[in-house]
Amino acid sequence: MPKAWLQDRKRDYYYKKAKEENYRSRAAYKLFQVVKKYQFIKRSDVVVDLGAAPGGWTQAAKKIVGNKGFVLGVDLKPIEPFPQKYVRTIIGDITEPEISQEILEFIPRKANVAISDASPNISGIWEVDHARQIDLAQQALKISLEILEPAGSFFVKVFQGDMLQDFIDKVKKHFEIVKVIKPEASRSKSSEIFILGMQIKKPRG
Ligand SMILES: C[S@@+](CC[C@H](N)C(=O)[O-])C[C@H]1O[C@@H](n2cnc3c(N)ncnc32)[C@H](O)[C@@H]1O
Repeated sequence: MPKAWLQDRKRDYYYKKAKEENYRSRAAYKLFQVVKKYQFIKRSDVVVDLGAAPGGWTQAAKKIVGNKGFVLGVDLKPIEPFPQKYVRTIIGDITEPEISQEILEFIPRKANVAISDASPNISGIWEVDHARQIDLAQQALKISLEILEPAGSFFVKVFQGDMLQDFIDKVKKHFEIVKVIKPEASRSKSSEIFILGMQIKKPRG
């Protein structure tokens, strides 16, 4: 069977599933699959979703944290409000220096997990898109280090390319456990890949 055909069918499968199960994006299943394997979001956690519109990951995170958990979605674009309690969204730019402080004012305590699926507007010029995306991932890492509690986890999308290894090395500098992941729900022809960092390293000395 041609690979492209299988890929399109898989894409269609998650698209339909998201429609049927009322998720705002099929990306929700990428988060579910990785959490199922690594258990880095737990019931009652506080989760911050950076680059969250239209809100599929925010919904998935809320489902995992349950009634006592709290999820904050941040995006440049407005996100349609959620009906559940303890899900908030704000319009914000993750490249702005004050954003971490703003986030800390909205969440009930330091976050257990920061997740980021942020993507730049795609120009079609590969080097430009890769560099912009890595820049967003670095901003997400910086914010995470400011808003996470010490045992916190960081999960981020990146586009593969020559700046990726440097970024992974930065995540390794700050987290004890680092995984590079391609979830089943992510198309294999897509260059996206996900990095998970668990447990912030304690400063030495
Ligand atoms: C692929 S979408 C996220 C999809 C989301 N995870 C979901 O499941 O619905 C990427 C998002 O990143 C956001 N984004 C890009 N640059 C941003 C920035 N500087 N600050 C905040 N959000 C940003 C875009 O507005 C876009 O909504």
